[in-house]
Amino acid sequence: MGFDLIIKNATLPDGQVGVDIACENGVIAAVERGIKAGAKEVIEANGQLVSPPFIDPHFHMDATLSLGTPRMNVSGTLLEGIALWGELKPVQTVDDIIERAMRYCDLAVSMGIGAIRSHVDICDDDLKGVAALLEVRKQVAPYLELQLVAFPQDGVFRDPAAQGNLIRALDMGVDVVGGIPHFERTMQDGADSVKYLCEVAADRGLLVDLHCDESDDPLSRHVETLAFETTRLGLQGRVTGSHLTSMHSMDNYYVSKLIPLMVEAGLHVIPNPLINIMLQGRHDSYPKRRGQTRVPELKAAGLTVGFGSDCVMDPWYSLGKADMLDVAHMGLHVAQLSSRADMAWCFDAVTVNSARIMGLEGYGLEKGCKANMVLLQATDPIEAIRLRATRLAVIRSGQVIARSPHAISELCLTGRPNRIDPAQYAPKSTGG
Ligand code: FE2
Repeated sequence: MGFDLIIKNATLPDGQVGVDIACENGVIAAVERGIKAGAKEVIEANGQLVSPPFIDPHFHMDATLSLGTPRMNVSGTLLEGIALWGELKPVQTVDDIIERAMRYCDLAVSMGIGAIRSHVDICDDDLKGVAALLEVRKQVAPYLELQLVAFPQDGVFRDPAAQGNLIRALDMGVDVVGGIPHFERTMQDGADSVKYLCEVAADRGLLVDLHCDESDDPLSRHVETLAFETTRLGLQGRVTGSHLTSMHSMDNYYVSKLIPLMVEAGLHVIPNPLINIMLQGRHDSYPKRRGQTRVPELKAAGLTVGFGSDCVMDPWYSLGKADMLDVAHMGLHVAQLSSRADMAWCFDAVTVNSARIMGLEGYGLEKGCKANMVLLQATDPIEAIRLRATRLAVIRSGQVIARSPHAISELCLTGRPNRIDPAQYAPKSTGG
């Protein structure tokens, strides 16, 4: 009796070459050279890279693909984006949100994404986004893991209904507690909101992921409070600070104290390089600040850092195509992560690191992991980022669920015309 699927002659992200990966009953059954058994389907990787799926740990699926409705963001700022979203919320329907989200999920799967953590705005008394994304989470579950964060976009204290809506959303089945302390009315309200939200999560045994200090204000220091509350409540390893862009502008002496506090709390960090290089620094003339937190320093301190995409074609960002390699490419540039080791780490930031932040089970390419993976038209992680490599095959539970033809331009760039025959990637049966 053979396997369901074997991928032959793969290169793995850790540099192993010539590896066969056998899948059976939705699980990786063997990862070794020269597997002799047959399979219902065989894919010849021909030395190209097989990775576990891309993971997007920070997204807004309730807003995606809404670009231009009801109008465009003229200033390009975060604040105009929030105002514009406030105009769309009352007029959109649950069905509108489901339809856009399902289209986005199809795109994401075709781009090799296996899991998404999406914030969902709960500052809407009808909780339309929550109802819509809970339905989407159910519909896409066979092929995409969707984790939802209850996100009080207008501030859990600033919006008088938000505390009640947050609890209702969690009761409905939303997975993670979110927040936005820098958008509360005062610095004190922001700090109090961090305390409140961490206590809600501790009471319910949930993870926390706050939009935190997404500004250019060097004195926006809610991440300090987030680290403090995490440690006080014993939530180490379960709390994430998303964005943290104010750290870019903070005094260096202060940061030398802050990062050890973040390490003590076991905070996870999610920069969103595409969005923040676009949104931040809008009040600067020149020199103009970059819009990303201190990735090399946070990484060197041993914190888990995963890059998120944040937005695709919505009030905050007009571009994007669910390409986590595009996200890694921008993150690499903005943080000047140019050594070979650092560039390879950027691939981890959109795969294993983000999987760890989301707490995904069975993620990876070891025997016993879920048989979820993507075959890329590249021979190593750095080349994958450089080329934003074509996803030749996306595999879920040991089944091919998406295919793309070879990109000829990539063949020209890599000088490997022997890989030009797409037919060799067609499914073959060995009769096993
Ligand atoms: Fe966000």
